[in-house]
Amino acid sequence: MTDNKKPSTPEELNLVNLDDEKPSSGKALRSQQWYGKLDKDGFIHRSWMKNQGLPDHSFDGRPIIGICNSWSELTPCNAHLRELAEYVKRGVWEAGGVPLEFPVMSLGETQMKPTAMLFRNLMSMDVEESMRAYGIDGVVLLGGCDKTTPAQLMGACSVDLPTIIVSSGPMLNGKYRGQDVGSGTDVWKFSEAVRGGHMSLDEFMRAESGMSRSRGTCMTMGTASTMSCLVEALGMSLPENGTLPAVDARRQALSHLTGRRIVEMVKEDLKPSDILTKSAFENAIRANAAVGGSTNAVMHLLAIAGRVGVDLSLDDWDRIGAEIPCLVDLMPSGKYLMEDFHYAGGFPALIERMRHLFDMDAKSVTGVSLGESMQGAECFNDDVIRTLDNPLREKAGIAVLRGNLSPLGAIIKPSAATPALLQHKGKAVVFENIEDYKARIDDPELDIDANSIMVLKGCGPKGYPGMPEVGNMALPSKLLEQGVTDMVRISDARMSGTAFGTVVLHVAPESTIGGPLALVENGDEISLDVSGRSLHLHISDEEMQARKAKWQPEESEYHRGYAKLYIDHVLQADQGADLDFLVGKSGSVVKRESH
Ligand code: FES
Repeated sequence: MTDNKKPSTPEELNLVNLDDEKPSSGKALRSQQWYGKLDKDGFIHRSWMKNQGLPDHSFDGRPIIGICNSWSELTPCNAHLRELAEYVKRGVWEAGGVPLEFPVMSLGETQMKPTAMLFRNLMSMDVEESMRAYGIDGVVLLGGCDKTTPAQLMGACSVDLPTIIVSSGPMLNGKYRGQDVGSGTDVWKFSEAVRGGHMSLDEFMRAESGMSRSRGTCMTMGTASTMSCLVEALGMSLPENGTLPAVDARRQALSHLTGRRIVEMVKEDLKPSDILTKSAFENAIRANAAVGGSTNAVMHLLAIAGRVGVDLSLDDWDRIGAEIPCLVDLMPSGKYLMEDFHYAGGFPALIERMRHLFDMDAKSVTGVSLGESMQGAECFNDDVIRTLDNPLREKAGIAVLRGNLSPLGAIIKPSAATPALLQHKGKAVVFENIEDYKARIDDPELDIDANSIMVLKGCGPKGYPGMPEVGNMALPSKLLEQGVTDMVRISDARMSGTAFGTVVLHVAPESTIGGPLALVENGDEISLDVSGRSLHLHISDEEMQARKAKWQPEESEYHRGYAKLYIDHVLQADQGADLDFLVGKSGSVVKRESH
């Protein structure tokens, strides 16, 4: 176009004629409501974008792809995501789309106080509102550290535009003194060894550098690795996304291919609601058992299902997952690490080995079924991905416990527990809150022995607030010195996906709102029966009522800001701890212009 001829038609302006350029789905591109208009609004939307050097044809009706990036140097597990974003962009350009990267809140699990979980729902709001407010047709979610993956997926489900995920990928195996050491799992072990007098402080300090020696997420089967594998099981990423190490060049290639694929997904109008059916969630529950995944996945999947409108309950976890064997021999349930898992064939090899247990017809972002996308995957190491006749655990799913102590449910991960403690009766040693626990746990006068049951209150969603990962309370030093390695522990908290032990978590309702956990007193007898799925406090109903009548709630110290909003609206653990007003979706339509 020459300078002296004024453009006057959409063609001359290089803007789309929507009738000619509809994608294969038949729907006009959403982004054209921003960039395809020949009026003041279109001028404003295009003109300011052109300050980034985008030529006219960027707005001619090609898909605009948002790259939703949770990069942050304060989230070390996601600190390399700007680099991966560049590979996503290559793929988007190659397929004829226009990539536009945008930042969202990032949640650094190991850095945030009081707990990153407090902010999962806030981040999901950021993702949701950014996706809806901007003129994008589809989105690539870049995340990885524990809460970033569920937060991004929750937000994206509430908008329901074509969405695909690229995870950070796990760190290389940690190394210390020639041995593999695993993120988190070995921190708990080393810490107990120091407290029990079996490891020097100097050795402890040296181990920390060897544990995290490359970019990426925790390389145990903690929450991050669990969620990246479950994303693959849900059909929301390309195959191998779950296990490829962060530094492996093939993750960059996967990012490139993901960029290409999202452009096709926009043309096909393939949305999360098309993929995330009940069957997809059931596959993810099975996958969680098969990999020995994190207890945190329970709450995250419940929350994601709530956003996309799938009726998933705590009982589905037990009903679907309980009988599934754990084949992946990874810490914290086993001994290997994510690098080993990937070299053994990764998540596709696992699914291929267990295909009769999964719904292989479930849809995925690939455009073909889960079964077709994983077909032919081979296992190269039966020690890491075990065979069905030699599982790491025969029945590895999350068990849901009910009883007068947890009327709305509590959970335990039997594969990470001591088998002899899965049926146990003991006297309660009660800690009223985390400060009380920290003040007294190493008191030589504490009346506790290996048969006691440690009970921690005040760590639920509203109570802490945010439901921190403190449920795997460290054992008293005096018992560690005696060689005790595990005890039954009960709380309304969560625990890190890298942790282990006979730990009952997510007791609902939580103690802060007067759940039965609030009424437990020192010396009360409690029975844990995992095979019977029960958690029972041995006091009469009359005694329970009398204690309840005397119980007084503590006044909250949070009177403003996000923490108040969270406390006022957070749901209990059995419902995924989403905010009540965020459940469901609002779609992608914005009715009003900005100027
Ligand atoms: Fe970020 Fe474990 S702390 S993945």
